[in-house]
This record gives sequence, structure tokens and C-alpha cells, in this order.
Amino acid sequence: MKAASYLDSIQAYQPAIPIEVLAGQIGIPADQIIKADANENPYGASPKAAEALLHSIAPHLYPDPGAVALCSQLSQFTGAPADQIMVGNGADELIDIIMRLFLDPGDTLIDLPPTFAMYKLHAELTRAAVLEIPRRPDFSIDLPALLAAASRPECKLVFLTTPNNPDGTLIPKEQIKLLLDLPIMLVVDEAYIEFSGSQADFGASQSCIPWVTQVDNLIVLRTFSKWAGLAGLRVGYGVFPAWLMPILWKVKQPYNVNCAAQAAAAACLTDLPYYKTVLQQISSERERMAAAIAALPGVAVVPSQTNFLLCQFKQASVKIIAAALRQKGILVRAYDEPNCPQSLRISIMKPWQNDLILKALEDNLSTGGNV
Ligand SMILES: Cc1ncc(COP(=O)(O)O)c(C=O)c1O
Repeated sequence: MKAASYLDSIQAYQPAIPIEVLAGQIGIPADQIIKADANENPYGASPKAAEALLHSIAPHLYPDPGAVALCSQLSQFTGAPADQIMVGNGADELIDIIMRLFLDPGDTLIDLPPTFAMYKLHAELTRAAVLEIPRRPDFSIDLPALLAAASRPECKLVFLTTPNNPDGTLIPKEQIKLLLDLPIMLVVDEAYIEFSGSQADFGASQSCIPWVTQVDNLIVLRTFSKWAGLAGLRVGYGVFPAWLMPILWKVKQPYNVNCAAQAAAAACLTDLPYYKTVLQQISSERERMAAAIAALPGVAVVPSQTNFLLCQFKQASVKIIAAALRQKGILVRAYDEPNCPQSLRISIMKPWQNDLILKALEDNLSTGGNV
């Protein structure tokens, strides 16, 4: 037997290693491992989410396919009409669905590396071509190249991640606005937008959601995995043009978001004061860590609007540093690729964990990367 041949050339996504697996490998208890490799929220979800999981779910019944109650709360949270919101099993599921909505085999996705790897993977799984327009060394987008490519008839879809993963920089809204005039579907992935700006408005001032009802070629994606601390329950959502909603229902699995996930996400939205405090703690720690890491010899830190920092190393090998930190029970994400050379992406953790990360980096650099 053989799997379909188009899969031969596709590289599987490399997910983060589960804490328990690493604990077994390195002999450090799971509760002492610092997991700074997947941009999860170290403070966890609101206590109201845990309460909802205990008392508000009926696991013997199928979940609401339209997540009506959650969409109504999301409508209040985002200002978007409830009937233009679709909830997904993580934003990942919505990325997959969007590829299938817009790409026929042979069509092209425009990808702007370095960025989230799932866009390219899902486009390839729909047998589409991927045109890469690399970001500049400061991670700004190459607008002239993008405008030219987006006018080509085979280019059907572009993903703009703002703030971007792995660097944490925002795309100026005027640039996104320019692209809206082109005959191409634009997906703005705002997975980390809640960490941007002052955080007091949960990223609203930077968001493109208000434009979704004004044009017919814009989708905005969000997730509960990062700011809301629900990565393990898998809840993302998108705001889609009205014309697309009936077609979305053809592609989406009917019961895609389970009842526990729906209840927990809805409960999070009733506890925004909790999240304001968490977001402020994360952003002040981000600034403290950015300054401290930038003071280390041979390291530059990209100014971030997210819950992670991209740290660029001039001499040391990031693979060696990441492996050394791993042995100490600290997980970070190493990048060494043409558009993101010699870099570590480090999630912002609680202050005591950040102190340990900093100490490990200092020790490592002072011993020439051999700790
Ligand atoms: C830019 C970006 N978009 C989407 C996702 C996926 O989010 P979810 O956990 O909701 O599937 C991630 C996760 O890391 C991400 O970094």
C-alpha cells in the first residue's frame, strides 16, 4: 500500500514536545519544566473557565454546531455581527478550511516567510502552489512585491499575520488597507493581537475586524489559545464576509468545537478584568526581558507586540543553546533558516520563570555556548 503521492514532498508540522514526554527524557519533574516554546499563557485561563468545565457542560450531547451562545458573546467582544463569526477547533482548523474554500489544485497561496508554518502546509495539502515573498530583515512586508504578486490571476489567497509569528511585529494597518483593493482574498491572522498596544482594549485599535463588513475579500482570524490560556481546549474563531457563510457550512465539520471548549471560551469572555491583569503582567515582563536579553553580548531582540520575543544571536549557535536549555528543563523554539537566521523565539512566562531563562542564557553565553 502507498499513501497518495502528492504527500511525498510535504513536510509534517513539528509540534512542540509535551511536558510529560520531555520530563521522562531529561529526568526533571514536569512541574519544574519551563515551557517557553509555544507561546502559551503561563497564567492559564480565568477561574471562570474551570468553573464552566465543571458545571456547564453536557458531554452526552453533541455540541452546538454554530456555537450560537459563544458567537453572540464574541460579537460583543469584537463588534462583528454574530452571524459572520465562525468558531473553529483552534484557528488551525479555520486555516485548513479557508485553503479548501479558496484554492483549487494549481492555484497559488502567497506566503510571507518567516511566518506561521501552517499556512504553507495546508495550502500544499490542498495541492496548491505556494509563492513565497520573504519579509525584509526587519520583518516588514515587501509591499511592492506583494502588490504585484496579488494581481496575478493564479494568486487567490494571502495570509497576513499581525503581529507576526515568530518576530512579534505588527503590519501597519495602512498597508493592509492597500491590499484590500486587490482582487484577492486576504486573511489577517490576529492570533496575538490582544497583546498589542496598551492591551487595555484587547488589541481592538490594531484589529482589522471592523473592515470585514465593509469589503467582501477580508477574513480575520483569532484564537483563545494565546491571550485566553485555552490552547489545550482548541478554540479559534474567524470573522468572515457575509456571502461566504453558507459556503463555510459546506466545508466545516458539523460538530467541530466540543462542548467543553465552547463553555470555557464563553466563560473567559465574562472575565475580562482577569485577562486585563494577565495581559499587563505579560507585557511588562516582555519589556523587562527584552531589555535584559538585549544587554547580553551578541544578542539583538526584535521589538515585540506579542507574548514572545525573537532573539537574534550574532555568533553563538541557536541549536546548541536550545539543546543546552532543554537539558535544564527550559524549552524555547530555535530558528535557523534563510529568512530567520540564528534566532530563538522565547515565550514570556511568569517572572520567576523568566529569571531562570535569563540566567540560563547568561550562563550559556558566558561559557561560549557549552552549558
Ligand atoms: C500566527 C498563528 N496563527 C494561528 C495559530 C494557531 O492557533 P490555534 O491554537 O487556535 O490553532 C498560531 C499558533 O501558534 C499562530 O502562531
